[in-house]
Amino acid sequence: MERFLSRTPKSAALFEKAKEVMPGGVPMSWMSKWPGKYPLFVQSASGAHFIDVDGNEYIDLCLGDTGSMTGHSPKPTVDAISKQLSKGMTAMLPTDDALEVSKELARRFHLPLWQFTVSATDANRHVIRYARLITGRQKIVIDRCYHGSVDESFATLDSSGATISREGNIGAPVLLDLTTRVVEFNDLSGMEEALKFGDVAAILMEPAMTNVGIVLPEEGYLSGVGELARKFGAIWIIDETHTISVGPGGMSAQLGLKPDFLTIGKAIGGGIPTGTFGMSYEMASQIARKIEREVIDTGGIGGTLAGNALSLAAMKATLTQVLTDENFIKMIELGNLWCDGVEVAINEFKLPWHVNRLGARGEYLFQRSAPKTGGEAAKAGDFELEQYIHLRLLNDGILLTPFHNMALMSPYTCKSDVDAHTAAFRAMCQELVSV
Ligand SMILES: Cc1ncc(COP(=O)(O)O)c(C=O)c1O
Repeated sequence: MERFLSRTPKSAALFEKAKEVMPGGVPMSWMSKWPGKYPLFVQSASGAHFIDVDGNEYIDLCLGDTGSMTGHSPKPTVDAISKQLSKGMTAMLPTDDALEVSKELARRFHLPLWQFTVSATDANRHVIRYARLITGRQKIVIDRCYHGSVDESFATLDSSGATISREGNIGAPVLLDLTTRVVEFNDLSGMEEALKFGDVAAILMEPAMTNVGIVLPEEGYLSGVGELARKFGAIWIIDETHTISVGPGGMSAQLGLKPDFLTIGKAIGGGIPTGTFGMSYEMASQIARKIEREVIDTGGIGGTLAGNALSLAAMKATLTQVLTDENFIKMIELGNLWCDGVEVAINEFKLPWHVNRLGARGEYLFQRSAPKTGGEAAKAGDFELEQYIHLRLLNDGILLTPFHNMALMSPYTCKSDVDAHTAAFRAMCQELVSV
């Protein structure tokens, strides 16, 4: 902490002033949760690096928790949005970019029809509403995956197996067991039990958990969930917002999954807020049959700025020129290199930790083997140790994704960035075992 304070006096001064005009001194409450007495204030960011207001340079392995998986201000996206800025940003009318982006999304994710939102959270909220409309049912099955600020998703299991609100779920509109049934990841028989009640509108899941540490699906789990959804008439929604790290079409394309809806946001706008959801023809025709054109503005689906011209220009450039098939090859290579570096140090110092790989993303947690469920991964957390690791690496000029030990590679990340992390991580492990 002393090192942090001595390196960042200008951030400290800005934080003091910020407290006068923002609760907690930050523009959004979760920004006060970074390790350290205050968050770093950013002066500029470019590619895989950023510089704080004190002039310290950092290798950014957080990349805006995937919002800047493209690298900061990728040139093709900046060029496209600069051009669009003088041509109108939002008009409540479509631009031709919407067609190009939809075509590209269909190519990647193998779903034919697309809608656009302001965020991934909105995409998830909207497909949940559509699922309820289509099925006439109430409940959503979920595990511990984070899907944004979606009311139904902040549920967990208590020790008796009942669905309850997660700790810190502020102002829940209703008790969580009214809207949600929790099934642990990789538990197919639990999924079947949950669906048997006949009241489940949708299963909303990431194909690998990424927000409680990484939890990978066991062989057959995802296709099994798809089959159960079909058998019991529930709609299957896959959220690829983070799992796009495995390739251009996320895990759905990689594993040939056939969800009814697919949601994604963050990286696809290169940093410009946006989200989208894709659907099958069957879902689209069911929705069309149930919605009357005369009923306007009360559907709970929309957002004035949804599908705006600026975000579509950003998405078109990002998808076609930044998050390209070729760039993914390089990003995944670096993701593996990062994981190799962590694994070598863990083995060298015999730490009881485990590394999980998800393409351009890697993460370690504090247990010897890979977790199979979100509950297991949550138990392998260690708040104090995590705070120490994050702060220590920050002092060494490396930013990890907060709240767990996760790193992400962008098209601008270099081998030297990964090597710098490997060296800093090894030095830290060596010190930890010598305490
Ligand atoms: C898997 C997943 N889906 C959706 C979201 C929500 O994204 P946003 O906060 O940009 O709406 C997140 C955010 O972390 C996420 O991790």
